[in-house]
Amino acid sequence: MAGKVAIVTGAGSRGPGVGNGKAAAILFAREGARVLCADRVLERAEETAGLIRAEGGEAISFGADVTRAADCSAMVATAVDRWGGLDILHNNVGIASRPTLMETSAEDWDRLMAVDLKSVFLATVAAVPVMAERGGGAIICVSSIDALRGHGRPAYAAAKAGILGFVTATAVELGPKGVRVNAIVPGQVWTPMVEGLGPEAREQRRRNAPLGTEGTAWDVAWGAVYLASEEARWVTGQMLVIDAGLTRTTRGSELPGRY
Ligand SMILES: NC(=O)c1ccc[n+]([C@@H]2O[C@H](COP(=O)([O-])OP(=O)(O)OC[C@H]3O[C@@H](n4cnc5c(N)ncnc54)[C@H](O)[C@@H]3O)[C@@H](O)[C@H]2O)c1
Repeated sequence: MAGKVAIVTGAGSRGPGVGNGKAAAILFAREGARVLCADRVLERAEETAGLIRAEGGEAISFGADVTRAADCSAMVATAVDRWGGLDILHNNVGIASRPTLMETSAEDWDRLMAVDLKSVFLATVAAVPVMAERGGGAIICVSSIDALRGHGRPAYAAAKAGILGFVTATAVELGPKGVRVNAIVPGQVWTPMVEGLGPEAREQRRRNAPLGTEGTAWDVAWGAVYLASEEARWVTGQMLVIDAGLTRTTRGSELPGRY
C-alpha cells in the first residue's frame, strides 16, 4: 500500500482500546499508506492519527459526521488537497441498535439506517469520482455477521444486510471504472463498541466460535489490508467473513445484551 491515500471513517475508538477503524488506520499506515482518520469526535480521530505519526507514519485527523453529505465531500476534498488523490475508502462507521424488535422505535430505526447504511452511500458517492480520475480504487464496507444469522438487534441486522446489497450492486456498477467494492463481515470481536456487555458476555462470545479464541480489531483490520491492497486487484463484490467460524455453527444466537 506504499504511497496510497486512504480514508478510514470512524477511525477513532469510543473508549480506551482499539476499535475496528483505529486498527485499520494503523495497519494501513504501517503498510505505507497515507491515512485521513475521520471521526464524528475529532479528538478520537486525532488520537489515532497521533499514534500513526508516533510510529513514523503519515496521517491527519478530520472531524466528520458521515451521515451528512457535506461532511463526506469535505472529507474527500481534504485528502485530495493534502495528497493529490484518493485510492482507498474504508467505510467503518457503525453503531449498535436496541436488542429487540419491540424496543425499537421509528426514531431508533431512522438513526441506525442513517449512521450504519446511509453513511456508506454518502461517503462512497463522494469518493468514487476522485478514485475514477486516478483509474480506480478500493472501497471496503464493514458489515456484521448479524446480517447473516439471527442474533436480535433487527435495525442493526437490517442495516448491515443492506451494506451487503450495496456492495453487490456497486461492485458491478463501478468495476468498469476500476473501483473494487468489498465487504468485511466481522464476528463477535472484542472492541470498545461492545465493552458495555461485561466480562460474562465477553467469555461467552469467545467460547461461541469453533476456534474458541477472542477476536480483536486487528483480526478484522488485516482483512481490510488485504482487500485494500494490490494483492486483491481481482477481488470485487465479495464478503470476507472474519468470525473464528461462528457462522458455521448454530451457537451464539441468543439475544444480545445492551451495549
Ligand atoms: N465489535 C464488534 O463485535 C463488531 C462486530 C461486527 C461489526 N462491527 C462493526 O465494526 C465497525 C466499527 O466498530 P468499532 O468496534 O471500531 O466501534 P467504535 O465504537 O469503537 O468506533 C467507531 C467510531 O465511529 C465513530 N462514529 C460514530 N458515528 C459516526 C458518524 N456518524 N460519523 C463519523 N464517525 C462516527 C465513533 O465516534 C467511534 O470513534 C462498526 O461498523 C461495527 O458495526 C463490530
